[in-house]
Amino acid sequence: MLELRHVSKSFGQKQVLQEISLHVSNGEFVSVIGPSGSGKSTMFSLIGGLLEPDAGEIYLSGENITNKRGFISYMPQQASLFPWRTIMENVLVGQELQGKKDYERAEAMLERAGLGDVIHAYPHELSGGMKQRVAFIRALLSPQSLMLLDEPFSALDEFTRTDMQKWLLSIWEDDEQSILFITHNIDEALFLSDKIIILSVNPAEIKEVIEVPFKRPRDEELLLSEEFLQWKRRIMEVIQF
Ligand SMILES: Nc1ncnc2c1ncn2[C@@H]1O[C@H](COP(=O)(O)OP(=O)(O)O)[C@@H](O)[C@H]1O
Ligand SMILES: [Mg+2]
Repeated sequence: MLELRHVSKSFGQKQVLQEISLHVSNGEFVSVIGPSGSGKSTMFSLIGGLLEPDAGEIYLSGENITNKRGFISYMPQQASLFPWRTIMENVLVGQELQGKKDYERAEAMLERAGLGDVIHAYPHELSGGMKQRVAFIRALLSPQSLMLLDEPFSALDEFTRTDMQKWLLSIWEDDEQSILFITHNIDEALFLSDKIIILSVNPAEIKEVIEVPFKRPRDEELLLSEEFLQWKRRIMEVIQF
């Protein structure tokens, strides 16, 4: 459904992305992994139409969306909720722009996320993990069929992060959305994804694409299995060379 064809981007003299080509299928969970500064957020801004590529095109379901906005739902690194809106009003923002609001679905998803008691609260009353869940539900409720998540859990502590990963999988497994997920955490990429795209640095090129073989549904046990550690080692080797 999403396709990047030979996308390149420089800022001044500095080339950040070089000839990036990648593909995300319907309902697929794809992670992009690379060290910080490698150009991951730049790639997302290009896909979202917030930046213009120097070369290459971006297609969504066959349509050329290069330099176009509004085709993709985007969850940025910081939850960035509207402080003056309640949680319910925040998660309905994407639908509001389309002129239709589905309160019941929003309420059901908030309840499922353990946020049933704070539907009418304001963002400042919530913890960091709760705000991330709200931002995620907002992205899920947006009408677009592809969701970009830019290191959504990097600011959370280890315990909250594992909970959030499990929660994300449980919601995503019931949904039809495709996800493109940015992370610099190998465990996170392996635990969540169907496919992992490994980037090099300066400029970022695709080093390798790994198909993750683990069955779903997945649980924490997987993180300690021999198979998991073997794949982790393999990815570390690709990143180092
Ligand atoms: N708007 C910009 N103008 C100039 N340089 C930028 C801009 N955005 C990002 N960069 C540079 O591009 C590189 C990649 O940044 P970024 O995409 O944010 O990396 P990542 O998300 O992988 O950490 C960095 O060196 C950063 O300084
Ligand atoms: Mg970034």
